[in-house]
Amino acid sequence: MTRKIIIDTDPGQDDAIAILLALASPEDLDVLGIVAVGGNIGLAQNARNALKVVELSGRTEVPVYAGCERPMRRMLVTAEHVHGPTGLDGPDLPEPKKKLEAQHGVDYIIDTLRSEEPGTVTLCTLGPLTNIGMALVKAPDIAPRIREIVMMAGAYFEVGNFTPAAEFNVYVDPEAADVVLRSGVPITMIPLDVTHGVLSYAHRIEGFSGIGNKAGRAVAEMILFSQKFDLEKYGNEGAPLHDPCVIAWLLEPDLFKGRKINVTIETASELTRGMTVADYWQITDRPRNVLYLRSADDAGFYRLLTERLARLP
Ligand code: RIB
Ligand code: CA
Repeated sequence: MTRKIIIDTDPGQDDAIAILLALASPEDLDVLGIVAVGGNIGLAQNARNALKVVELSGRTEVPVYAGCERPMRRMLVTAEHVHGPTGLDGPDLPEPKKKLEAQHGVDYIIDTLRSEEPGTVTLCTLGPLTNIGMALVKAPDIAPRIREIVMMAGAYFEVGNFTPAAEFNVYVDPEAADVVLRSGVPITMIPLDVTHGVLSYAHRIEGFSGIGNKAGRAVAEMILFSQKFDLEKYGNEGAPLHDPCVIAWLLEPDLFKGRKINVTIETASELTRGMTVADYWQITDRPRNVLYLRSADDAGFYRLLTERLARLP
């Protein structure tokens, strides 16, 4: 039985790889639509990058929408220092022929959740949670209709990557993350604690380019560009591959381990803005609102990713 998903994203190279993994798995995932959000780079560029990736996958029937340009309360903070001025530096992908849908991405999310059978649509968030937060504020009735929100967000044992306290996606829009985590919707959180354990070592990148197709070559070029910042910063032999973990969780959940705990977002302090305060040792009576994943079988993850990318053009 395929799972219906909406991907909310700020492509970025790792987002792009997550989108390719999802579009390469039609027998498992029915990608209803892709919604861009302001994050790694400005909205217009993120949306254009999403169109490029859909065309690269060959799945040009999948609609792409533009959502919110900036966070719910704060001004947008971007990450060109990691992803490059286009947000998808690395491969030379052609300007997209495919056009964005006219509807606003937040309204698309609301309408889709209202029209699909309740409890059948999963939201996969790869960037700041602005679109989901806004959808829940505009249409609270959609909350019980969402099957699950699987989000690349947060950090606890690995601490922050954008500040000492916060992971980028939550740092950019802490208020949206707070709305989503208090919504009562089933949430699976894939934090840096997981993604810092799935490193793209050189032989894994060679495995992508060795597939011999356009998608494999593009993925290798994306990682070779975006890894520079993390290799320098962390001094490891490979850089974390964040967003594809969201899709891998849906495809092979046994690759991951975690537990249901409370996660609460810091929205008041400027010092710790966007921190995901994870009650991992369950020392409070706060509601256990999140399945918090803490580790992944990284060899299994790269096997799955390489296998699925080989299905693309
Ligand atoms: O902190 C990692 C997250 O921030 C990933 O989603 C990456 O694409 C950036 O958006
Ligand atoms: Ca992202």
